[in-house]
Amino acid sequence: MTTTAHQDEANPFPPSIDHFELTDGTRVAVATKEAEQAEQQARDNDRNHVFHSWSAQAKINPQPIAKAEGPWIYDYQGKGYLDLASQLVSANLGHNHPDLVAAVQQQVTRVGNLNPAFANDVRGELAAKIVDQAQGEFSHVFFTNGGADAVEHAIRMARLTTGKSKILTAYRSYHGATGSAIMATGEARRHGNPTTDGDIKHFWGPFLYRSPFNAATEEEECARALEHLEQTLIFEGDVAAVMVEPVVGSSGIIVPPEGYLRGVREICDRHGAMWIADEVMVGFGRTGRLFAYEHAGADLQPDLITFAKGVNAGIVPLGGVVMSRGVYERFADKPYPGGLTYSGHPVACAPGVAAIEFYNREGVFESVERIGSEVLGPGLEALAAESAVVGNVRGKGYFWAVEFVSDQKKKTPLDPERMGALGAALKEAGLWPMVSGHRLHIAPPLITTEEQVRWALERITEAVRGM
Ligand SMILES: Cc1ncc(COP(=O)(O)O)c(C=O)c1O
Repeated sequence: MTTTAHQDEANPFPPSIDHFELTDGTRVAVATKEAEQAEQQARDNDRNHVFHSWSAQAKINPQPIAKAEGPWIYDYQGKGYLDLASQLVSANLGHNHPDLVAAVQQQVTRVGNLNPAFANDVRGELAAKIVDQAQGEFSHVFFTNGGADAVEHAIRMARLTTGKSKILTAYRSYHGATGSAIMATGEARRHGNPTTDGDIKHFWGPFLYRSPFNAATEEEECARALEHLEQTLIFEGDVAAVMVEPVVGSSGIIVPPEGYLRGVREICDRHGAMWIADEVMVGFGRTGRLFAYEHAGADLQPDLITFAKGVNAGIVPLGGVVMSRGVYERFADKPYPGGLTYSGHPVACAPGVAAIEFYNREGVFESVERIGSEVLGPGLEALAAESAVVGNVRGKGYFWAVEFVSDQKKKTPLDPERMGALGAALKEAGLWPMVSGHRLHIAPPLITTEEQVRWALERITEAVRGM
């Protein structure tokens, strides 16, 4: 191993690399002329032929990544970055985790592709593990390719089971980018899309820092948010389901006040609606529990859970819907009108089994809960206490938002130029950040050690002090 210019003895992270591999296996030394050529080739093909999500295509300049390992990603110069957002909050076990790699490799040579109409051992094993470990009484899993189609199917199941049509979701929410999922998305990413599902309506969820209810305390915010939800449901009528993210994810990382999710459950029960917990981002340990709704009480359960990302730590696309027995029974004798070519693809399910085994064996969720509450949370709160530009810090486990403001009283979002400068400073310091508007989202892989978390905290603190 060589030591690269950006690394010194007092600063052990990121671990240095001296080479990466091309697609044909050729080894290329970092920061050489060959590396530069390979990087240029990656940039050119991307620029000329890859169409990117959410972007004005001509205005972006995606960073080519040469190698990824553990919680680190590396550019072609060999500079490493802690993957502070676990890609899109999916790489819960970091990159190239040996257990997942082995599971994929082994499955590819066993049964590499299978029509979902067949029974399959790893698919069944993964479904059984999820049903067994999810808090509450569940019976079956419908596997999808990712989060948005899990949301589509959960909505369809709720409508067909209740015989009602409307779905309620929060304004501060993201539920995916397909037909009904993009309509379910409450925030601005919905804008610009044609209306594909007019039976999805929005409500305000609780968020004390920018309270839609003029509340002064979490208790007030909770009570008013629940009252508002119930009134919305009554005035809309015909509501099949209320879908909420148990901790709001990409729309702001918002932890609900105590009692809110229980209140949602009770409102749904009072009005014959289902509760869909969208756990696509927070499921599989992100907040220190298998599913984030568990924080709301040991006796609580949704009717349907959507999941994706962390189920197999994102190594192969996979998502799904966990359903209660009542939903399953609805389709016991009548066919379910929906399906996917790759539902329960064995190569995606095998690393799912391996991921769950690793999570359990290594106590990953417990350590995320501990390091989140003892190190990451207090470190960010200390930063908020000393910084004039940090308006609010919130989160749980390995899932935190730092909200930046130019005026603490008025809560004016910090301008894009200063947020851009923060992003650049973090990259320079060896962290690949997720800057979302005027917020920094912090969601490192769940295998990031306490030492690495402390290292990242120091660098974040230094970067914010330099703003
Ligand atoms: C809560 C939630 N639901 C649904 C989705 C959509 O998932 P996918 O991008 O896999 O379609 C996301 C994606 O980030 C999400 O965070």
